[in-house]
Amino acid sequence: MRILHFSDVHLPFPEGALRDPAVLHPKRLLALVNFRLRRSDKYAEARQKLDGLCDFLRQEPVDWILYTGDTMNLGLEKEYMEDAEPIARVLEMARKGALAVPGNHDLYAGASLRHYRRRFAKRFPKSDVPEAAVGAKGSPGGFPSVRYMGQEAVAIGINSAVPRFPFWDSSGRLDAAELGALERLLDSPAVARRKWVFVMTHYPFLDTDCLHGLRNTEPFWRLVEGRKNVVLLHGHNHRIYLKQGPGGIPVFCAGSLSKRGAESFWLFEPFAGSLNARRGVWRNARFSLDPVGE
Ligand SMILES: [Fe+2]
Ligand SMILES: [Fe+2]
Repeated sequence: MRILHFSDVHLPFPEGALRDPAVLHPKRLLALVNFRLRRSDKYAEARQKLDGLCDFLRQEPVDWILYTGDTMNLGLEKEYMEDAEPIARVLEMARKGALAVPGNHDLYAGASLRHYRRRFAKRFPKSDVPEAAVGAKGSPGGFPSVRYMGQEAVAIGINSAVPRFPFWDSSGRLDAAELGALERLLDSPAVARRKWVFVMTHYPFLDTDCLHGLRNTEPFWRLVEGRKNVVLLHGHNHRIYLKQGPGGIPVFCAGSLSKRGAESFWLFEPFAGSLNARRGVWRNARFSLDPVGE
């Protein structure tokens, strides 16, 4: 079984996206200045990297694809209109199925929830257990979402992205109702008996920074404590890494698929009781896998 996890594509603005009056929202204006000064050139080839991922998947097919969000930049309507399709096409390249959660740049300001529901949620894969989802306040709905991956593994997506007004605040939050639903799922026999339970969200489970990290990690860690089958996946930090959480729970950040010089994804192959994890790297204008242990 092969599972690919990628994140943080940050596709360039579609033609005409910045003519939207919504760009005058103070948070967007400031973010746009910041983007022009510091970021945009690093992600200018994001489309090419996404095409590169498709080429990789044609040569090295995977069974499941997990995506942890940040498809766009400012949550403008044109971005919602144009950007869901290329991501959905990548997710459809999985031989058996996929699961996606939104990032903070996909739920950017107030109207984002509506746009996300209309343009993205409808286009992305549906949960295997729709009745487990709770209608959390400020959430696009539909979470937790579940993808059973054969008899041995399952992926559970929870939302941690919340539209925030102040431009300096890009922190995330886990909703209490969603955490309750996650706990019920983890305790359910169909999940508990599986050897690998991938819990995925956009924000880093270990970063508690109140302006850029996940604000309420404590109830989450209490909930997963002692569960030996849990593996955590996230994005948001644009560098790939593996860390150990409390109790030795592995925490994988996929980094950014498209950040120039740091393009990355993870490829997991559970085998004989261990999880073989390899990094995808961009070399010579194509993605390939780092040799194991490099
Ligand atoms: Fe990001
Ligand atoms: Fe992010």
